[in-house]
Amino acid sequence: MRKLAAGNWKMNGLTAALTEIVALCRAHPAPACDMLICPPATLVAQVAAVAQGTGLALGGQDCHSAASGAHTGDVSAAMLKDAGASYVIVGHSERRTDHGETDAVVLAKASAAQAAGLVPIVCLGETEVERDAGETLNVIGRQLTGSVPDTSTADTLVIAYEPVWAIGTGRTPSLQEIAEVHAFLRQRLTARLGTEAAGVRLLYGGSVKPSNAAEIFALPHVDGALVGGASLKAADFGAIVAALSAA
Ligand code: 13P
Repeated sequence: MRKLAAGNWKMNGLTAALTEIVALCRAHPAPACDMLICPPATLVAQVAAVAQGTGLALGGQDCHSAASGAHTGDVSAAMLKDAGASYVIVGHSERRTDHGETDAVVLAKASAAQAAGLVPIVCLGETEVERDAGETLNVIGRQLTGSVPDTSTADTLVIAYEPVWAIGTGRTPSLQEIAEVHAFLRQRLTARLGTEAAGVRLLYGGSVKPSNAAEIFALPHVDGALVGGASLKAADFGAIVAALSAA
């Protein structure tokens, strides 16, 4: 399995930020892991042009569940693919919270992504209240059941475990807690997808940075990271790519 270092720029990045892409590709021309940036939709085509011929893959941050039509302001999976993307994040907690996306909506988006030839990165994660109530595995299990297409294979699905309370806060679960959730995800996926589950990349996300990346990547069933803030700077994201390449 090739591990995956994925950067989610969220609603950050103007044309000037393309210099970070250039720097990243120069510093890591042939990384030993897959390297992905999900810029805002406005930059996907430009980043694709800059990244052409390099080891950097491109992704969107969301897509609509329909292939096309009267959905003002939305972007379809086919449009992202056309602009140069090969992945798309779906069900990020910020979408679930800001836009009320349910598991059913996320499932429809993941299916649309797969139908368009994009690999969906399906995000799951508990809130702090849910963790404190001892509900973490119940919540993750329910989200996994509800948001992952049944026909997924190792090549057409990535899962990102992102505890909501760890996103952008500088806080992370303990290494043991991360390992517990990832082992649970692998077990549930195996029950669902059979032998394909062994090859599905399970990413951890939430305050991943150069200083904690190596210890997280050393955990069993952690096959990469989904990185927010630390993906905006080539030096920081490059250090995370290097840590994953060495893991
Ligand atoms: P941070 O790395 O900024 O905590 O964000 C994580 C995230 O939400 C990635 O999708």
